[in-house]
Amino acid sequence: MSEKAFELKFLSHESEDAVVASILQLSNSIFNPESESRYASFEEWKRRLSDPASSIVYLVHRSGRSTVPPPPVAFLFAHPRSHPEPLKNGSSQSSHIWLTGVSEEYRGRGCLDTMVDVLIDLEQQRRGSELSSMPTLTVCTVPAAFPSMWTWLRARTQWALEKELDGGKVLLSLTGRHDIQ
Ligand SMILES: CC(C)(COP(=O)(O)OP(=O)(O)OC[C@H]1O[C@@H](n2cnc3c(N)ncnc32)[C@H](O)[C@@H]1OP(=O)(O)O)[C@@H](O)C(=O)NCCC(=O)NCCS
Repeated sequence: MSEKAFELKFLSHESEDAVVASILQLSNSIFNPESESRYASFEEWKRRLSDPASSIVYLVHRSGRSTVPPPPVAFLFAHPRSHPEPLKNGSSQSSHIWLTGVSEEYRGRGCLDTMVDVLIDLEQQRRGSELSSMPTLTVCTVPAAFPSMWTWLRARTQWALEKELDGGKVLLSLTGRHDIQ
């Protein structure tokens, strides 16, 4: 991925509502959820983001000299999640990718690889320098509904299948760092 084409940005519980709303708008344009769905609910986004261990990583496409702030083109929303049954690495806690998506015209440029790698760095910083091992990351997906995500995950052997859930959903965990080209 060209470092110059995209600018990396972050949102946290301290971020302005208008910026959170712009990422929610991108998410809605990708997932087209029912208006009453929790995925489309600004209050739900704010609630999940209110945890200091939650974060949204997003990318904007640099647009020359324009004075208008460029819109986000990719995002990843992660929040802390507890697992009633320990994961394969023994952990019961993870930073869980709740939602992630890339605008159609920006796919296949390494945006998701970049955002996952940044999330690993963020989690490592949160844990402090004394813990050098991989932080635990998880994600759920529905292969039949999100084939591009499933293909992406299966192409990366660092993502291990944890378990199959109801409704064709699967839970995966990350066991190692991505190798970004
Ligand atoms: C799934 C999704 C997030 C993947 O995002 P993405 O940014 O296109 O993914 P990446 O670019 O990181 O990886 C896609 C491919 O581009 C390739 N790529 C990486 N850098 C590249 C570059 N600079 N130029 C061209 N291709 C590149 C990668 O090698 C990868 O191919 P591979 O899987 O065959 O190895 C995106 O397809 C999407 O938004 N889908 C709809 C929403 C969705 O399914 N969300 C997940 C729900 S659980």
